[in-house]
Amino acid sequence: MFAQIAPSAPVSASRSGMVQRAWEHFRSLGSPRYLCAPMVDASELAFRILVRRYGVQLAYTPMLHSSNFLRCEKYREEYFSTCSIDRPLVAQFCGNEPETLVAAAKHVENIARRGRYGAFLQDDWTLVQRLVSSLDAACRVPVWCKIRVFPDESRTLAYAQLLENAGCAVLAVHGRTRDQKGNEPGPANWSIIKQIKEHLRIPVLLNGNIQSWADVQRGLAETHCDGILSADRLLAYPALFSGREDLCIYQLAHEYLDIVETYDPRTHPRIIRGHLFRMLTSDIRRDETIRNGLLQAHTVAAFTDVLKMAERRAANISRMESAPAGTERRGWQPHVFFDTIGHGSHFDNEMEN
Ligand SMILES: Cc1cc2nc3c(=O)[nH]c(=O)nc-3n(C[C@H](O)[C@H](O)[C@H](O)COP(=O)(O)O)c2cc1C
Repeated sequence: MFAQIAPSAPVSASRSGMVQRAWEHFRSLGSPRYLCAPMVDASELAFRILVRRYGVQLAYTPMLHSSNFLRCEKYREEYFSTCSIDRPLVAQFCGNEPETLVAAAKHVENIARRGRYGAFLQDDWTLVQRLVSSLDAACRVPVWCKIRVFPDESRTLAYAQLLENAGCAVLAVHGRTRDQKGNEPGPANWSIIKQIKEHLRIPVLLNGNIQSWADVQRGLAETHCDGILSADRLLAYPALFSGREDLCIYQLAHEYLDIVETYDPRTHPRIIRGHLFRMLTSDIRRDETIRNGLLQAHTVAAFTDVLKMAERRAANISRMESAPAGTERRGWQPHVFFDTIGHGSHFDNEMEN
């Protein structure tokens, strides 16, 4: 079934050169294993800085619309900000016209000097091929692609192969199909990602359903991928890639707010709120006041107040729960982090790749 893309197929000199360049490029970035996935309204500068402090070795921007990015300065200011510690960075663009995509890519090349670009028009392979090869030909920086899998494994492999042939330097594969969306998207298919890794020559990244540090290790061991992207879990627990599972979520949330204040005070309250909803999901579920407080907050100071309130209330609950009558009270323990899986309606987005 996979004969047409078997590793033993003859490889042209120029393709070997491309593959070699892809690896040189990947190594020049330090061969990142732990990556923050692209997330609309969520992988913004402040969050990227936070997760980099806790083990993330490369981060993606949220998806940027190439035509808006190119034409509208306000859009660029609102949706793309970076700084010198925000490296290495992949700028993810969507678009369906090669010229616009190339022009947007060149624009960000000038801003950040390192842009990498995703493509996801999985129904129109001719167009995808043109988009990737146009970017590859026109830009100094390598092209990164991110795809979802198809229900048919051989089709997925052929698609991955097409991207490699078109000049993709690094391929991230989300192991869910396009129909696996919403609050319960279901498991990711790591087995097809393993096959893609076996058949392609460029670096391949695993994405989908990483819920713990043990999953990170298992994913790398089972698929032999070169790195792992996380989105959902990283939002709930930004220290996922530190390998530590005992860090206090309130401390991480305070640190996030400090970063917003220091590095990007213009971060939209909607985005800050989204992160706090994710990090404080269990508090919000049991306490309307926290939820309402977050909905009403619009400044870092106001968000900090709500966070402190959540912290105090959690400490009280924990004290009450851990002090049966007649026994000595134990100290407050940080939350168990693995109770907040799935997309809340706040975070559903149709543009997700
Ligand atoms: C809030 C949110 C926003 C997302 N936005 C994007 C996006 O802009 N571009 C993209 O390619 N994928 C996007 N995704 C999908 C993720 O990058 C990732 O492929 C998917 O969530 C599977 O990884 P996970 O199981 O670790 O969450 C988004 C996911 C979430 C949760």
